[in-house]
Amino acid sequence: MPPCRLLPRPRLISFKTHSRSFTVLALESSADDTCAAVVTSSGNILSNVVLKQNHIHEGFGGIHPYRAVQAHQQNMPIAVRKALNDARMNAAEVDGIAFTRGPGMTGCLGVGSSAAKTLAAALNKPLVGVHHMQAHALTPILTSAPNPPTFPFLTLLVSGGHTLLLLATSITQFRILATTPDESIGRVFDKVSRMLALPWSVKGPGASLEEFVAASTVQEDLALLMPRTMPGILRFSFTGLHSAVERFVTARGGTEALDMSTRHALANAFQKAAVGQLEEKVALALAWCEKQGIGVKHLVVSGGVASNLYLRESHDPILLVFPPAELCTDNAVMIAWASMHRFLTGNTDDYSVLIRPKWSIDDLSTN
Ligand code: KG4
Ligand code: ZN
Repeated sequence: MPPCRLLPRPRLISFKTHSRSFTVLALESSADDTCAAVVTSSGNILSNVVLKQNHIHEGFGGIHPYRAVQAHQQNMPIAVRKALNDARMNAAEVDGIAFTRGPGMTGCLGVGSSAAKTLAAALNKPLVGVHHMQAHALTPILTSAPNPPTFPFLTLLVSGGHTLLLLATSITQFRILATTPDESIGRVFDKVSRMLALPWSVKGPGASLEEFVAASTVQEDLALLMPRTMPGILRFSFTGLHSAVERFVTARGGTEALDMSTRHALANAFQKAAVGQLEEKVALALAWCEKQGIGVKHLVVSGGVASNLYLRESHDPILLVFPPAELCTDNAVMIAWASMHRFLTGNTDDYSVLIRPKWSIDDLSTN
């Protein structure tokens, strides 16, 4: 079945029990993007500001924790000001403040959390701390109205921090079907991109690898270099692909010794194998659901790697639901949206709420 394509400009889903629209200002700073957004309970995205830090981290080959905190400290006030300006609102007109409570990098989470808590206290507004991965997982409910995925659905969260295949049975209940004991798929994309000395585009190393492959007409087929990871087992691992690329590069005398067409072939083989692994594990999860008598119609794919067009074009025997690419990578719209049910039911946090840098998604109920 072809992938289900979504409306580029989401505005949707209303919480019908509430007559007045509730407006949330949300902040996200769990990794390297400083984000602020204003979203209403009827699904209107009034603003969506994302200030990227890729240029700062490029030289380090990954997110430099201290530089990331510094950049968040510089950028958060700018993001908040711009989000309010773009929404044509002043802070007093906002009904609630949301922020990413975890999981994520401790120092980075701290910047968004302190800003949100201080804003909420100063303005005397309710506050909600949101689980970052839950926010990724719920984004398609915002973006695919009027036909949002219905529970239970499968969720594939593929980002820099996570590689998770979940069974979502409600907005707060997620069962982990597969995860990875080692590196996330996003980090492996980043490392391979670096090994091939690809320039980090403004969108980052993973996106630059995708662009590099798309721009090539590959002759050489290096697919055989890539191992199949744990066939038949519902578990991810991308370290084998990472090592295969590393071994090949070393055997050929290092990155500089590789000509462009070999780099293209290697990037292509890696991307195919990585996406192939995702497809294989999804098929296993579907078989598991069927065996359990769980009828699943949709596979929601989210997280930064879900903006990859090669992945988005893959065909699965199930309806694929992707948020628009700009809402797959980190953003504060998803944080605002994931906080909404809690504001509307009065299940808000104290201003003293603490961040949770480590926080499993199957543990949303406990504080
Ligand atoms: O969800 P996200 O923005 O932040 C985290 O929560 O980690 O995901 C970022 C990750 C990075 O590893 C980035 O390189 C990867 O997603 N990514 C991509 C693409 N766009 C972002 N990987 C492959 N292809 C892409 N187009
Ligand atoms: Zn993320």
